[in-house]
Amino acid sequence: MPTIRKAELRDMQAVFAMIQHYAEQRVMLPRAILDLYENVWEFTVAEENGVVHGCGALKVYSAELAELRSLCVAPGINGRGLGRTLTDQVLDEAEHLGLKTVFALTTSPGFFEKMGFREVPRERFPTKVWRDCLQCPRYYQCEEKAMMIEVDVRRAALRQPAAESLEIPASSA
Ligand SMILES: CC(C)(COP(=O)(O)OP(=O)(O)OC[C@H]1O[C@@H](n2cnc3c(N)ncnc32)[C@H](O)[C@@H]1OP(=O)(O)O)[C@@H](O)C(=O)NCCC(=O)NCCS
Repeated sequence: MPTIRKAELRDMQAVFAMIQHYAEQRVMLPRAILDLYENVWEFTVAEENGVVHGCGALKVYSAELAELRSLCVAPGINGRGLGRTLTDQVLDEAEHLGLKTVFALTTSPGFFEKMGFREVPRERFPTKVWRDCLQCPRYYQCEEKAMMIEVDVRRAALRQPAAESLEIPASSA
């Protein structure tokens, strides 16, 4: 099983290659290698025998709000639970930091639903929209859905012993 740990600078070339792979498929937004080095602190990686198999980043916007972004698993490794493990780790980190809400913009909303997120209008996150989306060439034909999860609701759901999967009650929406 891969080790899940905070990223180091030596991981970032592999992270860049993974993100680039999915960016070319228009599944993720591309990120420059310098941007990745500058924001190495945000990243968690899954690594096995020196090979990076997946990554995810937590971008903090305020004392309450952060974005789970650049989440991906290397082609060929997907479908083995690594996306879930990385998401759980980043959400644990969000909880540890005292954040209230985590959102994601994604072309895979079904995956995030399984992680307990729910879909919301992306205008709900004005900082993100003004900072990144308005500069994006795909702004007017954006295929990404905004998904969000409340950290305390997730924690309460995880505490329920009978819960085999994270299902957030609709009343919390
Ligand atoms: C989306 C991604 C991170 C999922 O990682 P993964 O390791 O394949 O996912 P897991 O194996 O942990 O799957 C966990 C659950 O989500 C489901 N799932 C995975 N991808 C899904 C998708 N695209 N749509 C709906 N459900 C999905 C799995 O079937 C599994 O369900 P189960 O628990 O009922 O068996 C991975 O496919 C990926 O890197 N995709 C390309 C990049 C991307 O789209 N990133 C999203 C953020 S921008």
